[in-house]
Amino acid sequence: MRGMELRTERLTLREFRLDDEIAVHRYGSDEDVTRYTTWGPNSLADTATYLSEVAREAAREPRISFTLAVATLDDELIGAVNLTIIDRQSTGELGYVLARDSWGHGYATEVARRLIVFGFDELGLRRITATCHPDNFASARVLEKAGMHFERTIRDHLRVRGGWRDSRVFAIAASDEGAVHSD
Ligand SMILES: CC(C)(COP(=O)(O)OP(=O)(O)OC[C@H]1O[C@@H](n2cnc3c(N)ncnc32)[C@H](O)[C@@H]1OP(=O)(O)O)[C@@H](O)C(=O)NCCC(=O)NCCS
Repeated sequence: MRGMELRTERLTLREFRLDDEIAVHRYGSDEDVTRYTTWGPNSLADTATYLSEVAREAAREPRISFTLAVATLDDELIGAVNLTIIDRQSTGELGYVLARDSWGHGYATEVARRLIVFGFDELGLRRITATCHPDNFASARVLEKAGMHFERTIRDHLRVRGGWRDSRVFAIAASDEGAVHSD
């Protein structure tokens, strides 16, 4: 599955291109944006490594990781979304990041909903999960608005920037009442 493009009402989710590097670096190096992420703030070298890794994953057959640029309909890049198949093809892990000046417009919820539909309807997943930092209330709200349910907190889940942190796990199953599908 290469050369993918998904649409939402206000956004395009498309493959990254070489000329996206400056826009990706702008948000990836912003400490407000990376406060609760496991990566960043990125150096220019980190951004270049990230984009080559994304290109490598996109070329893999079968493709298991779908990292797509989030762009406005006039192709301004405002962030990224990822769905990675884990756990023997049945579960996907969702993540997203948006540039600071694009927060608060409902974009992350729009993107999360679209990726959930893609995961269930096109990849045939049974379950989609997402984890977030316990203090990342905006992200938890996005996951809830996208139909995901809080399942549990994993204590000392990740070692990030020299310290251990907990993660909150959210999930949606294809069989959940209200799980979003394309029809
Ligand atoms: C998390 C993030 C993707 C949210 O994007 P967004 O487009 O602003 O999200 P939405 O507008 O769809 O929804 C945000 C919701 O969180 C709420 N919110 C924002 N800040 C909040 C806070 N501090 N406490 C509680 N709720 C908050 C908003 O009010 C909104 O809910 P509402 O529609 O019920 O009012 C964005 O802030 C981001 O990219 N952050 C940095 C990267 C990151 O943390 N990624 C997630 C890693 S798990």
